[in-house]
Amino acid sequence: MNIAVIGTGYVGLVSGICYAELGNTVICVDKDPFKISTLQNGGIPIYEPGLEELSAKNVAAGRLSYTSDLQAAVREAELVIIAVGTPPLPSGEADLAYIDAAALEIAEALPAGAIVAVKSTVPVGTNERVRDLIRSRTDAPFSSVSLPEFLREGSAIRDTMEPDRVVIGSESREAAEKVAELHRPLTDKIMITDLRSAELLKYASNAFLATKISLINEIANICEKVGADVTQVAEGMGFDRRIGPAFLQAGIGYGGSCFPKDTRALIQIAGHVEYDFKLLRSVVEVNREQRFNVIRKLETIFGGELRGKTVAVWGLSFKPNTDDVRESPALEIMRHLVDVGVHVRAYDPVATPNFRSAFGDKGVVWCEGALEAAAGADALCLLTEWEEFAGADLRQLQSVMSRPILIDGRNVFREEDLAGTAFIYYSIGRPSLN
Ligand code: UGA
Repeated sequence: MNIAVIGTGYVGLVSGICYAELGNTVICVDKDPFKISTLQNGGIPIYEPGLEELSAKNVAAGRLSYTSDLQAAVREAELVIIAVGTPPLPSGEADLAYIDAAALEIAEALPAGAIVAVKSTVPVGTNERVRDLIRSRTDAPFSSVSLPEFLREGSAIRDTMEPDRVVIGSESREAAEKVAELHRPLTDKIMITDLRSAELLKYASNAFLATKISLINEIANICEKVGADVTQVAEGMGFDRRIGPAFLQAGIGYGGSCFPKDTRALIQIAGHVEYDFKLLRSVVEVNREQRFNVIRKLETIFGGELRGKTVAVWGLSFKPNTDDVRESPALEIMRHLVDVGVHVRAYDPVATPNFRSAFGDKGVVWCEGALEAAAGADALCLLTEWEEFAGADLRQLQSVMSRPILIDGRNVFREEDLAGTAFIYYSIGRPSLN
């Protein structure tokens, strides 16, 4: 199939490269000339394990190319995929400005019989809006398809190549079948729905996963008060096939470009039809509070006086294997620490540049290594579960710190790991050790 992918953000780039890997001819389009020249020169503007190599392989095979000429790309396409950003407006609603602009430009070049699919996460009714916008500008017959994306940052290639399911929302059975054919090499779990159900299903899935996380975080908070261990509680719950073990990892809450944005957007979508989504409002509220669990622990340890203390922070990205810091819990935790006069020494294997541009430099020493960050610290807070941290030599770590205090915001370490050290160890929803 000849495919044009509009938008080389996370979703567009990963999908485009993976469609090329399946043997299709793919052109990825972006307005940003810097992104396009990076891609044309063999680079990747995001951090995603394996993506650069996969792009190079498919460019070399002649199946994949990058351009900023949208109309030239669309003119040759059988399938045009819109994967532009839908950032949140201050109200929490998704901003559809990029979607609208893409639709209008696509219309100028759309060949007769093409399929236009929206992969961006969009409010219910957006595919119809895109269809009507294109129709207002062209007489060429085309079909609209909603093609929601379920990939995760950090494991995006695997999630795309081995999806749990592919959802195709469409008004045209024929168009849905063509798009289904494209995905058949990936899975036989292909579900064809109407446009609105596909759009809502994406938000509902993210809302459910966010709910699981907030639920286990609240259970963790109760565990701390009653002396239970949330990892054991979660494990026992997860054996029940109706619950499942995934997304029951207690911690400092979810971040990233999806859950925070999509939960708020779904609350707005419900609000527009005068439905108060109470459960989801609580999920968001619990998540906002959960990051302060780390601060509360520090306050307890230091008798409420954090000013003048040196605190090391390990992990700045919202989760491991990504340099994405959007809505990372580390942002608010570090902001609070700096505001109350803590000297922060921070380290992340890849996300420091992005974090610095989001956070600024005030009150923070940016370090090149985990041990360097911990040097002289009164306490260490682990905020992202990078593999590098799990493998740390804790005796060596203790030897460089001023005081052996470790707050593990992601429950990375086990009791055995701490044996032979003097660490005072706090984690989330598990008994503290000292
Ligand atoms: C999420 C969904 O998992 C994808 O299916 C979806 O396609 C994507 O959003 C999207 O809408 O584009 P992503 O945000 O990349 O993917 O990352 P996740 O692995 O889902 O993690 C989200 C956050 O939840 C992270 O901050 C992570 O630390 C946190 N989390 C996850 C927990 O705190 N506990 C868990 O058990 C799992």
